[in-house]
Amino acid sequence: MSYPSLLGAIGNTPLVAVPLQSEGTILAKLEYLNPGGSVKDRSALYMVEHAEKAGILKPGGTLIDASSGNHGIALAMIGAIKGYRVIIVVSEKISKEKLQTIKAYGAEVIVCKPTEFIDDPQSYHFVAQRLAQEIPNSFMPNQYYNVVNREAHQSLLGPEMWNQTNGTITHFFAGAGTGGTVSGVGRYLKSKNPNIKVYGIDSVNSFRSTNGHPKPYSLEGIGIDFTSEVLDYNVIDKIVTVSDAESIDALKLLAKEFGMLIGPSSGAVFAGLLKEKDTFTKDSVAVIMFSDSGRAYLSKGFYDVQGETVAQAYSNTMSSEAVQFDGPATTK
Ligand SMILES: Cc1ncc(COP(=O)(O)O)c(C=O)c1O
Repeated sequence: MSYPSLLGAIGNTPLVAVPLQSEGTILAKLEYLNPGGSVKDRSALYMVEHAEKAGILKPGGTLIDASSGNHGIALAMIGAIKGYRVIIVVSEKISKEKLQTIKAYGAEVIVCKPTEFIDDPQSYHFVAQRLAQEIPNSFMPNQYYNVVNREAHQSLLGPEMWNQTNGTITHFFAGAGTGGTVSGVGRYLKSKNPNIKVYGIDSVNSFRSTNGHPKPYSLEGIGIDFTSEVLDYNVIDKIVTVSDAESIDALKLLAKEFGMLIGPSSGAVFAGLLKEKDTFTKDSVAVIMFSDSGRAYLSKGFYDVQGETVAQAYSNTMSSEAVQFDGPATTK
């Protein structure tokens, strides 16, 4: 198949069986095969084109947003193709690879200190909002609070998975950052079959999991740290919480046993699946979101740690230049 633009190659990612011993079938949605390397290509393009159609984003305009990395990468790629200036505000927690990728597309990057709360005036989200107010002819997709983010997944990703499984999907697992993926796909799937079970994966240390007393965690992209309409709890049957250590152990297992080199949020999703898979029957068809690739995190050393928990790895590697685990950070 050929496309007139790289943007046409976003979506239609493969669904691949994970040969894990279990009742039922486990299928991984390989979103890291999108042109920008993550599921965020879909929502970023949808939000940009929605703004273009609404006349909010005009030729020669500037795209500005806060991002844990992948949304920023997607906007930077889209901006390069469509001719927009792009400014991405990130937290120091971002991997070196993701930071360099945003810059490689020609976008400008502002790095903020991690803050405990997203509405802190020093937070990356707040800084992006201020810039969007100051810079004329700019548009902030505002992925954390704009429900168009969720609609993207409801209208594109949900139907794609439904069709790829011929309507046989029974369980869906996705990490929750903005909540757009799990809520958008969840909405669509529940509209087709209300019996489908939808699981959102969260960090044990997030704002939500700790009842407002978040602790540092190294997962990037997921963790429910604020309240927003984007995350629709009505279509989520269960939030499964996972630790950094469980997620990183899952990453290593998937790379070494199954040849799937995925990022930490996907490790978290797999760790969540492991906690729930005993409820599956032979007719279960579980789809798990692998949202980005492990290549974007190699400098973090997650894959180098042998048989240890990440907590141990933290203290073991603090003095090593090769491995840079982040310091305290609770924003995504
Ligand atoms: C790698 C990765 N996984 C999962 C997510 C969570 O997706 P959502 O924001 O739709 O909840 C993100 C969000 O940035 C991400 O970058």
